[in-house]
Amino acid sequence: MGLDAQTVKRLAVAAVSARRRAYAPYSHFLVGAAILTECGQVIEGCNVENASYGLTICAERGAVATAIAAGFRQWQAIAIASQGGVTPCGACRQVLMEFGADLQVLLIDAESGQCQSRCTLADLLPGAFKFQPKQT
Ligand code: THU
Repeated sequence: MGLDAQTVKRLAVAAVSARRRAYAPYSHFLVGAAILTECGQVIEGCNVENASYGLTICAERGAVATAIAAGFRQWQAIAIASQGGVTPCGACRQVLMEFGADLQVLLIDAESGQCQSRCTLADLLPGAFKFQPKQT
């Protein structure tokens, strides 16, 4: 699927490292994400919870916002680190889909640092809603 073992390792390490900075005093479920841009930059994110629970920002969406703000819109992959290597929530799948269905998604078990499984975003969100805005 195009990523060499060294790159997978680099992304996994970044996601695990971002996870350590998660702010999750309510759920205690720490998540880290690392986006690999087309040009090889790695952009990290972690979940940021809030006393008003619904305002919580997932790690993936934090990484998306950071990547876009830094000027990187084209991505090869995202690694997501959590206990057990869970898959991204539905909202994050939709937000990621905005930037490409071919994105490689690597699920990392935070304890071992190992990539547990990988797939594309299209695998995780079949039949995604897409809207092509007219240029105005
Ligand atoms: N969480 C993420 O950061 N990403 C996901 O894809 C699923 C859930 C976070 C949100 C919340 O802080 C905690 O995990 C428990 O739901």
